[in-house]
Amino acid sequence: MLAPLLLFAGVATAHAQAGSPAGAVPVEHLRARRAALLNKIGAGVAILRSADQRSIEADGGHPQDSDFRQDNDFFYLTGLETQRSWLVLVARDTAPDEAILFVPPRDSIAERWTGPTLGPGPEAVALTGIEDIRSNAEAERDIRRLVLRPNSPARTHGLYIPRGERESDIALFRDLVFTPSASRAPAAIYDLRPLLAEGRLIKDADELARLRRAIAITAKAQRAAMQALKPGMWEYEIEAVIEATFRSSGAERLGFPSIIGAGTNATVLHYDKSRGQSLTGDLVVMDIGAEFGYYTADVTRTAPISGKFTARQRALYDLVLATQQAAIDSVRPGVTTRDLNRIARTYMREHSGDLCRPGTCDRFFVHGLSHWLGMDVHDVGDYSTAFAPGMVLTVEPGIYIPEERIGIRIEDDILVTADEPEILSSGAPRRPGEIEALMKGSR
Ligand code: GLY
Ligand code: MN
Repeated sequence: MLAPLLLFAGVATAHAQAGSPAGAVPVEHLRARRAALLNKIGAGVAILRSADQRSIEADGGHPQDSDFRQDNDFFYLTGLETQRSWLVLVARDTAPDEAILFVPPRDSIAERWTGPTLGPGPEAVALTGIEDIRSNAEAERDIRRLVLRPNSPARTHGLYIPRGERESDIALFRDLVFTPSASRAPAAIYDLRPLLAEGRLIKDADELARLRRAIAITAKAQRAAMQALKPGMWEYEIEAVIEATFRSSGAERLGFPSIIGAGTNATVLHYDKSRGQSLTGDLVVMDIGAEFGYYTADVTRTAPISGKFTARQRALYDLVLATQQAAIDSVRPGVTTRDLNRIARTYMREHSGDLCRPGTCDRFFVHGLSHWLGMDVHDVGDYSTAFAPGMVLTVEPGIYIPEERIGIRIEDDILVTADEPEILSSGAPRRPGEIEALMKGSR
């Protein structure tokens, strides 16, 4: 690695998805997302801050220490990968709404190291559809003035910021919330996150296209892993097959650390060490998700390392699969994740037979059934929300019996539509006969 001649104050990043396998987010979608948010606010001012460079090692500013990833909400509204940036949205009930973006000016020395960046200018306007783009040099001072000027909707109606962790981490948010002068304060402070989450719950066409690609890549990796499995394989070898498939298919990173567990490790729900060696006869749980264009898949398959399920494994697998199908068949507009959970647990209990005596198998189903999926693997959104077309959720029942070295989880990504749900992850085989056939074909 080259030694930097200068310590950089900041580090340049790729500036948008332009040039990436996913490409830039079309401007019409960005405009529509901002308009929907402004509409929910009605009157008021919203401020969002981009992510900053992650300091993996604070050892003198090697620019490559940062695998920069934009803040999800900032990316959702701007499509940009600029750091140290701000988005201000001004919603008015009388005059037109406004969007103002602050991005770092270009820095020719930093660009020698990390490539061209996006400064304020026509390219940024074209990528975001925001006309008013300014340098971030005095952003905090400028935003404070904008928010606190006498006719600001923040003074008359309120200020919307992401409350919680980010509020206290960011000096401007702290100032506006805790130390405005009594005569020049926002009318009220509201949390912006639930409003953004409502928007992000329903995927638009560009979001769905990205999710479909992330899921297709993940299904391909599941097939590649199944074809590679053989007794004695180390979990990290399986992980390598999966993650090589992700990367060679254009996935930019993992949506979450890969969970690859053989034997007893298959019963540890979030086991992500991948240090164990499989034994003949083990089941392997592979819970994985590629990230493509800021959207992540989350697909779990369970396969027999030796290529064939034992009778006991097969009986338990069939129960998990039938439970999953009962839940998927119930995904309809108006239903909630709580309803699905009840349907799945009741199904498993009523169809356990003698498999898990003394008792029923649902006592080994020790985690939730579903979560929202999108930019985050456990995506934002209120879990009491009734399903509506455009929402995407996982359905992932499991049975875990450590004493028998048996862990089984089957997880698919489901798109809610006006009628039949769509299984987005059907490219990864989940019926036991199909899994065995794929594994046999590769031997
Ligand atoms: N894929 C990990 C989880 O859903 O928790
Ligand atoms: Mn999941």
